[in-house]
Amino acid sequence: MRFLIPILISATVLVPQGIADNVQSILEIPNTNAGAAHRIAIVGAGAAGSSAAYHLSQFARDAGLEIPLNITIFESEARVGGRTTTVNALNDPRYPVELGGSIFVEINRILFNATRDFNLPTNARIYESTGSDYDLGIWDGDSFIFTTANSDDDGSLKDRWSGWWDIAKLLWKYGFSPLRLRSLQRATIGRFLNMYDEFFPFLDLTQAAEEADLLSVTGTTGEKMLAAAGISEQFSREIIQASTRVNYAQNLPDFHGLETLVCMSTDGAMSIEGGNWQIFDQMIKHSQAKLRLNSTVTAVNTTTGSPTLTITNSEGATVSESFDTIILAHPYNSSMMTLTPPPAHTPHKDVAYVSLHVTLFTSPFRPSPVYFNLNPPVDSLVPDSILTTVPEALDPHFLGRGVEGVGPTGFWSLSTLHILNPSTDGYIPGVVSSGSIPVENLDMSGKQYLYKIFSPAPLTAEELVELFGWQDDQSLPADLKSNSRTQSHGGTSISALPDTLLTWSHEKVWNSYPYLPPRTEFDCFDVYNCSSTRSVEAEALARKLWYTSAIEPFICTMETSALSGRNIARLIVDGLA
Ligand SMILES: Cc1cc2nc3c(=O)[nH]c(=O)nc-3n(C[C@H](O)[C@H](O)[C@H](O)COP(=O)(O)OP(=O)(O)OC[C@H]3O[C@@H](n4cnc5c(N)ncnc54)[C@H](O)[C@@H]3O)c2cc1C
Ligand SMILES: *[C@@H]1O[C@H](CO)[C@@H](O)[C@H](O)[C@H]1NC(C)=O
Ligand SMILES: *[C@@H]1O[C@H](CO)[C@@H](O)[C@H](O)[C@H]1NC(C)=O
Ligand SMILES: *[C@@H]1O[C@H](CO)[C@@H](O)[C@H](O)[C@H]1NC(C)=O
Ligand SMILES: *[C@@H]1O[C@H](CO)[C@@H](O)[C@H](O)[C@H]1NC(C)=O
Ligand SMILES: *[C@@H]1O[C@H](CO)[C@@H](O)[C@H](O)[C@H]1NC(C)=O
Ligand SMILES: *[C@@H]1O[C@H](CO)[C@@H](O)[C@H](O)[C@H]1NC(C)=O
Repeated sequence: MRFLIPILISATVLVPQGIADNVQSILEIPNTNAGAAHRIAIVGAGAAGSSAAYHLSQFARDAGLEIPLNITIFESEARVGGRTTTVNALNDPRYPVELGGSIFVEINRILFNATRDFNLPTNARIYESTGSDYDLGIWDGDSFIFTTANSDDDGSLKDRWSGWWDIAKLLWKYGFSPLRLRSLQRATIGRFLNMYDEFFPFLDLTQAAEEADLLSVTGTTGEKMLAAAGISEQFSREIIQASTRVNYAQNLPDFHGLETLVCMSTDGAMSIEGGNWQIFDQMIKHSQAKLRLNSTVTAVNTTTGSPTLTITNSEGATVSESFDTIILAHPYNSSMMTLTPPPAHTPHKDVAYVSLHVTLFTSPFRPSPVYFNLNPPVDSLVPDSILTTVPEALDPHFLGRGVEGVGPTGFWSLSTLHILNPSTDGYIPGVVSSGSIPVENLDMSGKQYLYKIFSPAPLTAEELVELFGWQDDQSLPADLKSNSRTQSHGGTSISALPDTLLTWSHEKVWNSYPYLPPRTEFDCFDVYNCSSTRSVEAEALARKLWYTSAIEPFICTMETSALSGRNIARLIVDGLA
């Protein structure tokens, strides 16, 4: 941080000069690129950036803009999709699996419309039963405090939460809480949907949230909001917190009310067969924007009328290019990118991101009933999907974040995603493969279970040995045999496990989403014209640098990032019309 101080000091000296230049260019040459195309740079090819590109071209066409848009997307990775991407289980292109954003819902109008408009197949093979008696269990580190029984299933999409609305069972255990939650959630989501029409487009998120009457739910914790609505503490902790933990790796006492309700709004959950990233890939293709992969933007200099980007390619070579408008479509991090002049309000200054460890792996084995204290210890009592919460005795108010916040369970969730039969499974139609090489030299005649675990720290070999009860397995290296549950966990990489037990694995650490404590003020979309700090400097630089991730501390999903991109696209086109 220390090196930032001289930059800030020198900037206060530089800014007046910058303003002078800028005011002059605005006064004398109203359009810095008169006659030619309006050049727009989008930094980031995730949900937000691709939606911005797509909607810019749509809105420009609808508005009959005279001046053509020339859109360039810069993406540091070699692929589009950002936090939405797939990897191939068993390195086999038949088995693409989501590593990041997995599920969206029918009320997600932008994504839902895109699946329709781009003809992308949804839903296939999200869930197959393993033969377990339970499709879902909520584990508190000691016992399963709630389970839903597996119903007969035809292998088609199974809504992750549909079992929860086995209302009779819920009412029996939790009284009227499930119904109260339902009405609170309907009313709030209805108010949020106004942001697609009545309040669209919105220059100021804080103001739009206020007008949609949502600040009361973003400004309080999920815990307090639910208590105020008459929902029991037990239902909140056991059921709703399991959802905030699997979706956002956070507990209710430090997580705002709006995102809590988003976690419970899973009606009509779906995903794109072969990978959700295809939505964003199609949006970019339909936008006719130029896509520059392997191109990291390291600086944005907005001192003159034409903001200049500094772009570094994967070989480390640097170029500068000028544009008329820039859209930052990723969470801003000052150590990764500099903004000149430094904005009065630095984007995401007070926003911290969750460090989420995602471990995908395949094994011919099921988790151990002994690990979960099941009696009798039979495999079929272990649920297919395991969500977690903290036990009643442990006050989550005193838990921190990450490793502390997860509590005694040690992981946020463990899901069985698919049953793979590599020797007999056919190719899945419509799947876009990335063409990896299948794992060789393995006996693939039997079935393989594909698992996904979310945890706050790397999953270790010792933890998997316990979870699956492999302590006495012949093939286990001696140094992994000695651990028992009462001893402290070792820290051996899961790659040390023999491939008879763990046939394939993929580990990824994401800065997945922000921590979402209550808040009633959000960052500005227009970085240099931020309502609370507006000044002469800001007006002169207004509408040049836009920021999509301002929406993340409000709601962080693929859809809301796409909404943010769409909103900014409309603001830009309105400004040019
Ligand atoms: C494990 C996980 C599970 C999730 N589950 C869900 C879910 O089920 N449903 C849901 O709706 N959401 C889910 N989310 C959240 C969702 O994925 C994100 O909210 C959304 O994808 C964010 O999109 P974005 O475009 O705003 O940002 P990103 O997807 O992060 O895109 C930003 C892009 O910018 C690029 N970039 C960054 N800096 C630069 C630079 N300097 N120069 C050039 N390029 C740059 C990055 O490489 C990236 O491609 C999940 C996220 C994770 C990680
Ligand atoms: C669009 O912008 C890019 C980048 O500035 C430039 O190289 C290209 O020539 C422009 N194309 C048109 C048609 O204006
Ligand atoms: C991006 O870089 C990777 C290697 O890091 C390379 O395989 C790929 O071809 C590059 N893609 C483009 C479009 O430059
Ligand atoms: C989605 O499609 C419907 C029906 O065509 C349309 O009315 C609506 O405006 C679209 N919404 C968005 C956000 O694209
Ligand atoms: C930003 O651009 C201005 C005008 O071109 C230039 O004088 C200044 O040195 C640049 N600043 C940085 C940090 O690149
Ligand atoms: C910014 O990125 C650096 C390098 O990846 C990381 O160490 C740092 O924690 C990030 N800062 C924030 C605020 O996310
Ligand atoms: C700057 O923001 C204010 C409101 O926040 C708005 O009224 C004004 O039009 C904006 N200026 C420009 C040039 O967009």
